[in-house]
Amino acid sequence: MPRASLDKDPHEVAAMFDGVASGYDRANSFMTFGFDRRWRTTTARVLDAKRGEKVLDLAAGTGVSTVEYARGGAWCLAADFSVGMLRAGLHRKVPMVAADALHLPFADGSFDAVTISLALRNFVDTKAALVEIARVVKPGGRLVICEVSTPTFAPIRFFYRRFVLKLLTWVGSRSSTNPEAYSYLAESMLAWPDQRALGEIVASAGWTEVEWLNLTFGVVAIHRAKKPSLNSAV
Ligand SMILES: C[S@@+](CC[C@H](N)C(=O)[O-])C[C@H]1O[C@@H](n2cnc3c(N)ncnc32)[C@H](O)[C@@H]1O
Repeated sequence: MPRASLDKDPHEVAAMFDGVASGYDRANSFMTFGFDRRWRTTTARVLDAKRGEKVLDLAAGTGVSTVEYARGGAWCLAADFSVGMLRAGLHRKVPMVAADALHLPFADGSFDAVTISLALRNFVDTKAALVEIARVVKPGGRLVICEVSTPTFAPIRFFYRRFVLKLLTWVGSRSSTNPEAYSYLAESMLAWPDQRALGEIVASAGWTEVEWLNLTFGVVAIHRAKKPSLNSAV
């Protein structure tokens, strides 16, 4: 089973997730010390998907987040390019489709909102994916990203980088079928831009009203943004 390198060959990333799919939900909860549930419920609150809306949960993996977002009655579609991850979530009562974030198989303006949780940093080209996502969202539609970020308080940042990521790799190696995949995940967390830098990438991809909310001291941040409405063009 390949170990995806940080330059993110998409086939290796997909194969890596296929390889960890069967134990992914359990390992993820272990590795985040159960915080993943809280992050998902807060993301669902920020997303605020309402009955009658169409929401794309992109890189949804096993659909664990999709179920959360659909609670308010919106139609939520789980999309992922790892068929293994989707298959591991088939017991969940949400529609699923195999799709690559860089080439989405949807018409322009298909969704009211797109959300991505703990996955944007795995995309081979962050900005290109954000541009492609904007294409499939209606004018005025929403983007909500939940992703690991940078703790804002320096001592916590030091402790997190020095110890917690190492601990994560160790816990992942105990609870997962592919320990190397979890070193990749920890490395990808370290290499990821901080809150402001990600906000700038989102804005540079054409999104407006970009703002973020720190969770768990900034270990995770939720970014939200809007696609400009048609009448906002100058
Ligand atoms: C860490 S998992 C997160 C899964 C889920 N969103 C969650 O919150 O548990 C990252 C997911 O991103 C998916 N992924 C990575 N790059 C992708 C891409 N270009 N297109 C679609 N899915 C992708 C992987 O297959 C994997 O299922």
